Formats: sequence, C-alpha cells, structure tokens
Amino acid sequence: MLPINVLIIINMNKKWVLVLGGCGYIGTNICEDLLKNRFNVIAYDLNPGQSGSFLELYPNSYKHIQGVVSDLPTLVQVVTEHQIMLVMHLVSTMVPSSGYDKYLEEQKNIIVPSIELIKTFTDLGVNKLMFFSSGGTIYGNNGNSVNSELSSCQPINYYGLAKQQLENYLLMNHESLGLDYLIIRPSNPYGKNKKISSLQGLIPLVMSKLKNNQIIEVWGDGESTRDYIYIDDLAALITEIIKKNTWNEIYNIGTGEGTSINQIIEIAKAVTSKDVLVEYIEARSVDVPKNVLNINKLEGLIGKHQLLSVKQGMKLLWKAMAN
Ligand SMILES: NC(=O)c1ccc[n+]([C@@H]2O[C@H](COP(=O)([O-])OP(=O)(O)OC[C@H]3O[C@@H](n4cnc5c(N)ncnc54)[C@H](O)[C@@H]3O)[C@@H](O)[C@H]2O)c1
Repeated sequence: MLPINVLIIINMNKKWVLVLGGCGYIGTNICEDLLKNRFNVIAYDLNPGQSGSFLELYPNSYKHIQGVVSDLPTLVQVVTEHQIMLVMHLVSTMVPSSGYDKYLEEQKNIIVPSIELIKTFTDLGVNKLMFFSSGGTIYGNNGNSVNSELSSCQPINYYGLAKQQLENYLLMNHESLGLDYLIIRPSNPYGKNKKISSLQGLIPLVMSKLKNNQIIEVWGDGESTRDYIYIDDLAALITEIIKKNTWNEIYNIGTGEGTSINQIIEIAKAVTSKDVLVEYIEARSVDVPKNVLNINKLEGLIGKHQLLSVKQGMKLLWKAMAN
C-alpha cells in the first residue's frame, strides 16, 4: 500500500470527466462508453442510478457523488480535489411537454445554479464544458423540416426555451470569460436503460404498449416526423467528439434520417410480431410537425459512422425488454 501523500499526488495527476446528471438516461450510457474508452469519470447526480455496477466494474476510474447542481460548496470541493479535464452538463428536469410552473422550477433549481456554477468553475480554471441542449426542440417553428446548426432557433415550448437560455449564456461566457464550450444538440435518443415511465421518448412507449397489449394514443395524424438515434450510437459519437478535443462549436447529433410516428408503429408491429390498436387524438401545440437534423458538421469532424437504423435499434430494444 502506497503512503497517503503519494496516493493524493497520483489522484491529482489523474484527469477526470465530471458528468453532471451522469446517472440519468443519457448520462449513464455516456459514462459507460467513456469508461470503456479508459476515461476517468465522476458522475455527479441527485440519484445513484446504476453507479453501483460501474463502481464494481471500474473501481479506479469511476466515482459517484450524490448532490444537486445548486450545492456550490460541494462542487467546488470536487473540482479542487480532482483535475477536471471536462465538465459535461446533462442536468434537467424538463421535457418538451413541461409547462410554465415546471419552467419556473427549472429556473430556480437548475438554470440559475448552473449559471453560478459555470462562472465559479471558470474562475477556478475549469474551462471546458459540454452542454446538452436539444436538437429536437431548439429549432422550433423556424419553417425548416431539416435543421443545421446555423438554422434559427425559435423554440415553441418551455423546454426549448430553457435550453436556449443556457446555450446563450455559454456563448456570452466564452466571449467575456474565455470558457471553452461545446453545445450538443441531440435529436431523439432511444434504446436500453430508458425508464418507460419517463415522459420523454416515443419508441420505448410504443414498444411497452405493444408488450402490454395496450392502445397507443397518437397526438395528431401520426405523420409527425423525428430523427431517432440509438442510445449506444449517441454515446459513442459523444466519446468521438471528446477525443477530437475541439471547442467552441455547436453540433447536431442525430442520424440525419426522419421517421414518422405511423412508421414507428408499423416497424414496432413487424419487430414484435404483434398487432396494436391506435387511437388518434388532437395534436399538441408543443410539437413541430417535422424535425430532422442535418449532421454534415458532425461528419466533418469525426467522419461518417455506421449508425443503427430505427428497425435495427428497435429490434435491440425489444430484445432488451424481453430480459
Ligand atoms: N432524453 C432525450 O430524449 C433528450 C434529447 C435531447 C436532449 N436531452 C437532454 O440531455 C440531458 C440528459 O437527458 P436524459 O434523458 O438523460 O435526462 P434524465 O432525466 O434521465 O437525466 C437527468 C439527470 O439529472 C439529475 N438531476 C435532476 N435534477 C438535478 C439537480 N438539481 N442536481 C443534480 N442532478 C439532478 C437526475 O437525477 C437525472 O439523473 C438533459 O439535459 C436533456 O434535456 C435529452
């Protein structure tokens, strides 16, 4: 056993990725991919999630610290006790259907504390931050059905507005304080480890309805189209981006392909060999009819990657749901 002072020096030489919200759906999958790629990861989250299994598998390169983003003293302690190479921000309690009250709650518990946190981290010399925005809602009703990072951002729901706020803060902060940012705009991830009870995610919802022989309720005519990406692909693309060590950019992350709700239901029926009743109800005002991401900029950075088709991804999900 090495003496304590030697252990502390070794620890300080180790570089860590600090993942705020690292025990949520996307965070868990990103942590897993980073750990497989030999990064050291600290997942900071209100909930422990699957941290127990990561601690067993990666005892020397994974830590879970339980806490909220508004707990500035604890987070200051975390960054002063570790060499942080990058902070990833995945903390949110909103979904596209969240209303005004939830938006106010998010301001109080997440947006304002995150602004304070980013300022404090920058002052402490932690100057690289990757923020998870939303490719599905940030563009809103801008008149385009395919959006590149240069498309105008006109969110039509509180969730998109909250994302735009933190994006703008990061852009301003880069100019005024020199914080290096990466803004990630993921499309619609789906796949393993998703809580079916959560409000975000059409594909797991459709699959669980089929599994439980329940009626599927569709808002609108079912032609609403989104860009669905399998969660493992999303996590792997994030790791690739981190390896490029490029900063002060915005990246859409999706497949560049659109699939409608009606198509998802047809694929689900084919994949599960089950039939389902569909009830069409009034469309929601918080949804745009079509949003597919242009991923040329991402491909320019990391090259073209073979991503799973929706059918391949749904087959994997169906298998995972059977176990
Ligand atoms: N899931 C999607 O479809 C999707 C799509 C695009 C962007 N995003 C964004 O990506 C990020 C991660 O999404 P997700 O689906 O993993 O969400 P999630 O809800 O599964 O994860 C968020 C995590 O944040 C934690 N958290 C909540 N409040 C906290 C607080 N005050 N302090 C510390 N931790 C707190 C939760 O415990 C949870 O583990 C979010 O910012 C989300 O808006 C999600």
